Amino acid sequence: MSFFKKKDFFEVKDSRSDLVLLGLGAIVGTGVFVLTGLVSANYSGPAVTLSYLIAGVTCIFVALVYTELATMLPTSGSIYTYSYVAFGELSAWLMASILIIELGFSSATVAAGWSAYVVGIIESAGISLPVYLTKVPSDGGFINLPALFITLFVGFVLYLGTRDSKRLNTILVFVKMMAIFVFIVIAAPNFNIKHWRDFMPFGFNNVLVGSSILFFSYTGFGSLASTAEECKNPKKDLTIGIIGSLVLATTIYIIVAGLLTGIVDYKLLNNAQPLALALRESNSNVGSAIVAVGAVAGMTTVIMMNLYALSRIFYVISRDGLLPKFMSKLHPKHDTPYFTLIIFVVMVSALGCFCPYEILGKLSSMAALIDYLMVSMSVVLFRLTLKDVDRPFKCPMVFVVAPVAFFSSLYLLFKQILDEEGKLLMSGKIIIMWIIFMAILYIVRSLFLKSRNKIILKA
Ligand code: ALA
Repeated sequence: MSFFKKKDFFEVKDSRSDLVLLGLGAIVGTGVFVLTGLVSANYSGPAVTLSYLIAGVTCIFVALVYTELATMLPTSGSIYTYSYVAFGELSAWLMASILIIELGFSSATVAAGWSAYVVGIIESAGISLPVYLTKVPSDGGFINLPALFITLFVGFVLYLGTRDSKRLNTILVFVKMMAIFVFIVIAAPNFNIKHWRDFMPFGFNNVLVGSSILFFSYTGFGSLASTAEECKNPKKDLTIGIIGSLVLATTIYIIVAGLLTGIVDYKLLNNAQPLALALRESNSNVGSAIVAVGAVAGMTTVIMMNLYALSRIFYVISRDGLLPKFMSKLHPKHDTPYFTLIIFVVMVSALGCFCPYEILGKLSSMAALIDYLMVSMSVVLFRLTLKDVDRPFKCPMVFVVAPVAFFSSLYLLFKQILDEEGKLLMSGKIIIMWIIFMAILYIVRSLFLKSRNKIILKA
């Protein structure tokens, strides 16, 4: 009987369309379903469309350089491997520590967004839940149990194997895309230009601040690079997967943001479920319920892709000898790197249960920006030093695109690290301390261990 026969971890291959689905799974989540409302109410007004456009164009530039590296070096190590080849072991180690923040903190933020939506759905059915079990201590609660639940659930599905998690991911991506489609169809006829009259109520500088916050909505496309070892044809599939999913996400965000601020006054959007609320205001309770369910499905896939990418990247790091070997052990039955998975599920659960998501989300965006800075630098360095290496996808006008990606990411990073008077914000301090701590850890580790592998690029 072969009903329960499982494929090996490295035999499960993704095709191009799978990768676009995985990309949408990783990208579209808390950003569009939660942050769109908060940013339009507090920073951008209806010009939230412009905030999305600016962040989206920056990300498309980054995606072009990211794709060149992902197809040139198709390994699951992603930016960890690129920086290893470009700048050596210390930079690879530091980028790995940045990835913990980028993907791990993002998962905890999204788990908190998931929790807010689910609690909202339960409460709209007339059942009230105790605050001490649904909020973190800084918000007046004790523990965020729904965030714990979704993290453990996703961790368990990933533990069971690549095939099961991909099947669930595909279903959930369809549910979230359907919810967005329903939102667009219901909102479009209700669009009223009067809501757009005061288009930029807080000025252009705040539209840029809005962009730096909404940047979070685009993070996740880098996770696709970590599927490289599981693609049928990583070179072509990754190109279409990364660029295709990002262009689709950008288009969706701009349309949704435009409609959202065109059907209700932006001042009403300062809450955690803006899309569902806007449809309720437009007298569509059914549409509102569909959107809420889609948001919950959408956020689930983001957590899934982040944890998936983290476990693969740290599997590669351990395989390279920078971390203990047990971390690259595959489960005998499920063929998943279960040690790394368990470590990150525990970390994300603790963060989601007890830490405020605003700071986690900010830190995650900052880490993504550092990731993109490193990618932009590496691609230029490789063009100069590794001229003969095969590049299945060549970034067009790389000496223009990479600097634009670099400086726009740097600008958005500064917007998050410094306040208006140029003083270091708390999130900036945390990320700098984290990098210093990890550099010290690297030195201590190097005194006791030696890494064994070198990464070799074939021309
Ligand atoms: N881009 C992901 C989201 O918006 C992290 O949820």
